[in-house]
Amino acid sequence: MPTESLDVTSKKIKVWDLPTRLFHWSMVCLLGLLWWSAEEGEMLWHQIFAYSLIVLILFRLVWGVIGSDTARFTHFIKSPKEVLQYLKQRKKSTIGHNPLGGYMVITLIVVMLFQFISGLFATDDVFTEGPLYSYVSDSVSSTLTSLHKLNFDLIIALATMHILAVIIHGIKGDKLVGAMITGHKYVADDIQQQLNFRSNLLAFVLICLLAGVVANYLILPLTAML
Ligand code: HEM
Ligand code: HEM
Repeated sequence: MPTESLDVTSKKIKVWDLPTRLFHWSMVCLLGLLWWSAEEGEMLWHQIFAYSLIVLILFRLVWGVIGSDTARFTHFIKSPKEVLQYLKQRKKSTIGHNPLGGYMVITLIVVMLFQFISGLFATDDVFTEGPLYSYVSDSVSSTLTSLHKLNFDLIIALATMHILAVIIHGIKGDKLVGAMITGHKYVADDIQQQLNFRSNLLAFVLICLLAGVVANYLILPLTAML
């Protein structure tokens, strides 16, 4: 009888660098804080959390080009043909994102970018307006505010699918969560792949640069009003 479990795994290798792991878990925390702050009407914090999240997302976009092998977009964005092939031979565990998961990663990043951009034009009709609110008409702002609220439901739906996929992989023996925490994963013995990892210092400098620009232009003007 065919088994659904993944390959027998026997060797432990490093798959995720520290910057990618920190990006992931900080982003999850910030999304929780963004939801909480909007629910509680803590709109100053909402904006500060949103600007912190955009630093992470911008970092991830750059890291997707210059970062470690498994973090690079070219490593995990595959052709539809390769996705179909992967789906047919479901038993393979992969190093980095699998071909289907790669598309989910891109989708999650795009919907978060849209959430951020729509927030820049949003208003709560009381005290808070995004910094680009005054550049558009009331009706455009109101549409973008509605989309900002709707799109968050989409983020939740996609994140739920993402978490379910991770759980299903776990049940089949491919322990992805542990790898996203420790950076290491057990893979099949026959997988031979040389991975290059970029320095954590480079990531740190990049994050500091991005944080400096965002803090200067977006966060400091907010706190100066206090
Ligand atoms: C709001 C919730 C979440 C969002 C938006 C999200 C988004 C993402 C994104 C964008 C990546 C790609 C990381 C990268 O390449 O930089 C990723 C990977 C991953 N996430 Fe999440 N995540 C969420 C919650 C979770 C949770 C709660 C778990 C644990 C149960 C989890 C487990 C993972 C794992 C294991 C990977 C790596 C998957 C692989 O090996 O291909 N995520 N997630
Ligand atoms: C990716 C980052 C962001 C996330 C995840 C996020 C999330 C949310 C959520 C969950 C809500 C509540 C939706 C609802 O009531 O159904 C909300 C509302 C809102 N957000 Fe954001 N937001 C983000 C970025 C921003 C930014 C950058 C701004 C402006 C600087 C902003 C301004 C607002 C405003 C004005 C509201 C409306 C509050 C109301 O009508 O009560 N958001 N956001």
